[in-house]
Amino acid sequence: MTRKLFVTTALPYANAAFHIGHMMEYIQADIWVRFQRMQAEGDGLREVHFVGADDTHGTPIMIAAEKEGITPQEFVAKIAAGRPQYLDGFHIAFDNWYSTDSPENVELSQGIYRKLREAGLIQTKTVDRFFDPVKGMFLADRNIKGECPKCHAKDQYGDNCEVCGAAYQPTDLINPYSVFTNATPILKPSEQYFFKLSDPRCFEFLRDWLNTPGRLQPEMVNKVSEWLGEAGEKLADWDISRDAPYFGIPIPDAPNKYFYVWLDAPVGYLASLKNYCGKKGIDYDALLADPGTEQIHFIGKDIVSFHLLFWPAMLEFAKHPTIDRMKVAVHGHLTVNNEKMSKSRGTGISPLRYLNLGMNPEWLRYYLAYKLNSRVEDLDFTGDDFVARVNSDLIGKFVNIASRCAGFIAKKFDGKLASSVSASSQEWIKKALVAEDGSERQASIAANFESREFGKALREIMEIADVANRFVDENKPWVLAKDESKVAELHDVCTTALILFRQLTILLSPVLPGVAANVRTFLNDAAYTWADTSVANGAAWQPMLGRTIGAYSHLMTRVDAKMIEDLFDAPAQQAAAVAAPAAAAVEAAPALDGEPHAASAAGDIEELSPEISIDDFTKIDLRIAKIVNCEHVEGAGKLLRLTLDVGEGRYRNVFSGIKSMYKPEDLVGKLTVMVANLAPRKMKFGVSEGMVLAASAKDEKANPGIYVLNPWPGAEPGMRVR
Ligand code: 2FM
Ligand code: ZN
Repeated sequence: MTRKLFVTTALPYANAAFHIGHMMEYIQADIWVRFQRMQAEGDGLREVHFVGADDTHGTPIMIAAEKEGITPQEFVAKIAAGRPQYLDGFHIAFDNWYSTDSPENVELSQGIYRKLREAGLIQTKTVDRFFDPVKGMFLADRNIKGECPKCHAKDQYGDNCEVCGAAYQPTDLINPYSVFTNATPILKPSEQYFFKLSDPRCFEFLRDWLNTPGRLQPEMVNKVSEWLGEAGEKLADWDISRDAPYFGIPIPDAPNKYFYVWLDAPVGYLASLKNYCGKKGIDYDALLADPGTEQIHFIGKDIVSFHLLFWPAMLEFAKHPTIDRMKVAVHGHLTVNNEKMSKSRGTGISPLRYLNLGMNPEWLRYYLAYKLNSRVEDLDFTGDDFVARVNSDLIGKFVNIASRCAGFIAKKFDGKLASSVSASSQEWIKKALVAEDGSERQASIAANFESREFGKALREIMEIADVANRFVDENKPWVLAKDESKVAELHDVCTTALILFRQLTILLSPVLPGVAANVRTFLNDAAYTWADTSVANGAAWQPMLGRTIGAYSHLMTRVDAKMIEDLFDAPAQQAAAVAAPAAAAVEAAPALDGEPHAASAAGDIEELSPEISIDDFTKIDLRIAKIVNCEHVEGAGKLLRLTLDVGEGRYRNVFSGIKSMYKPEDLVGKLTVMVANLAPRKMKFGVSEGMVLAASAKDEKANPGIYVLNPWPGAEPGMRVR
């Protein structure tokens, strides 16, 4: 049967920029997806649909939007506009990025609900819900904090505990308080809609579903089995409704009631797939009904209860066709120096900061992959370890092979590889690519990629690199090159080394897609598939023989340990470390107040606008902004896309018509001034969340310059300009 894969990562809340934990999950899934896309299936390559979306609904986003004086939709659009720089920056190739606030999600969520109702699994009950007496509204689970009823950890949210993972009702919290006002919430009766998870059908289904071999990691089966209890006696009905006001999807036939965000969030996986199918002309229903289609969700260990209890039960009783072919791949959390990341301790890693420091995204992809396995274990990032691993493996073992041999092919053989390789070189190729038991190493590497044992796969790939380096060390092309009589040998050795280098590149390409693309150009290769790794019938080397290759250019640099220091600067130091803009020389001739003096070099100055009061001026909130990223906007003649840090703990996306004057790289790291309270504007290329101040002359034809404002040293992001 032809496998088709529908793959997702957890949908991030659309209330903040991505953090490094998101990147880890996306990189894990992206590596798996890229590996799958290289597999032959039927007449071509395996069909993979990798989709994500923003998780938009719920009270936190509603409140955050309200604070900014914009609609929740505008708020979500702003966050969504910031996503591509991260995804593109780390080579994460989703086929579609969508939103749970979408017509597809409304239709699918309401459709699933109706089917659950028809199955007799929806029940209404009047229950006491927490109400903030100071704010005058019902409180969502995440707006209430208190002590976990299971493990007694303090300050846990009302829906599940981030320490022990338990799921519960907000009313189960010990000493609850409202996160808005700190007031002790009062209980008020309200009619709520429940999904009857306590129905014996749910237990029977979940027990069998969980225990299907190969579906879940063993530790997950154990954990969820505990939650089920012996006979499902521990399964409580799940409150899926929230009272207005709520940013969410209306519950059919239930005025003023909305689906709880966790009801429609996973449906967002399907909504994104459906939206993507619509764009691509794929039949969504047929794809899901296809017995070869598998549904795989990559998630973190903190959201297991939603994905291993509620979500499968919803899908089962809504008769979702892939429920029997659904898997959930759970990963642990990312720690730094074996501790939870913390901004105040200076151990938070900002993905954008990483990129802005010029750190190679593929270093991080490799390092994380090297540490990933198929178990639900935390993964630790340690600076020294990162530097050592990347420099030793990627530079010392991998890139080194090409850099030691490619030059001779260019210089001595006009870029042409040998048209055959000697028997002894063929032996070396086999020694590298075939294991002692006679099996091809690519097969066990493939099995490790398939089962998400990425660390094992990479260790085995590095063993191949070790053999390739031994081959080069023993045959010493730099010595052969000095002896004219050894020219054929030199050709043979360098060709063989590049054959092995190409093999390593193909095996590493799920992890290092950017490097693989550059190697393809260098070697004049077509797209790589897994079949290209096979030793059988010389498939691993025949395509290279006699081929003319391109010029070798550096594929990857070493990590400079200094970069790691910069990566971990504590927030307070970060601001001070911002490159101080060079102080402009002050040349203006002193002029007496109000006295006429020479006209400006720009020619006639623009007429002054009508006078305003100080109150008018203070309505405009001008802030110092740091340009943390800047890039061209495809298809826009004048615009640059700026990512600005205004000290708010999130980044802003601003388009500015300054392309004629500045190169993106000249602006990155500089400070400027922006209008921070300008209503967001939807532009053709995304939402612009403010305006950067720049000066221009009255006569733009005579003087077309646009000059971005740049504060004097000492100014810091977030400072108000008044
Ligand atoms: O925990 C979170 O960040 C959620 N937004 C994940 C949702 S995953 C899926 F259900 F949408
Ligand atoms: Zn707990």
